[in-house]
Amino acid sequence: MKVSPSILTCDFAHAADELCYVENSGADMVHLDVMDGVFVPNLSFGPPVLACMRPHTGLCFDVHLMMQYPDRLLEDFAKAGADSINIHLESSAPIAKTLTRIRELGKKPAITIKPKTTAEEVFPYLDMVDMVLVMTVEPGFGGQSFMADMLPKIAALRAEINRRGLNVEIQVDGGVNENTAKLVAEAGADIAVIGSALFNSPDPKALVDKVHAL
Ligand code: DX5
Ligand code: ZN
Repeated sequence: MKVSPSILTCDFAHAADELCYVENSGADMVHLDVMDGVFVPNLSFGPPVLACMRPHTGLCFDVHLMMQYPDRLLEDFAKAGADSINIHLESSAPIAKTLTRIRELGKKPAITIKPKTTAEEVFPYLDMVDMVLVMTVEPGFGGQSFMADMLPKIAALRAEINRRGLNVEIQVDGGVNENTAKLVAEAGADIAVIGSALFNSPDPKALVDKVHAL
């Protein structure tokens, strides 16, 4: 499995160093959690902060928009250096139109679902996205416990993607660590988003190596 570190729990006063830490771990991309204080009860950062971080790593920026109206800032995130843009199915954006717009901006469209949203609700959008992100915690905060009851949802998505012969990657986000990564790999996920487990790890490279081997 690929590893996409979520920098939500990093030291933002030293973001450039933290991106260096991510690169040195051997991770494949960077997961950036944008929170608007409306869709989730927390605030993080927006396009200007993303633009400041952009020159400090060559890794792809995968932007997870936990926003009620993600369609309002797509151009800004694209300009700030996003490579892929994840919007929530539960947001107020016109989903198909927003995914098309992300593609028109030259970025990879992706769709994210919260724990209470079923796999079947994403099926109509599967041929419009490059990735589906399955949340395994309620979005809003890092460091929460993995919800194992999301595993059948990952398996259902994998089965449908394979059945239709689509080239869509499944990402899993929330409470992923060395042990839970094994479970999501077995369920059919391609990308593990890992936040606190990576930043608290005494040996981040060993952790990434282990997840790569799954
Ligand atoms: C939760 C975020 C996640 C999360 C990952 O709202 O979308 O990306 O912070 O962090 P850990 O791995 O600590 O759950
Ligand atoms: Zn996230």
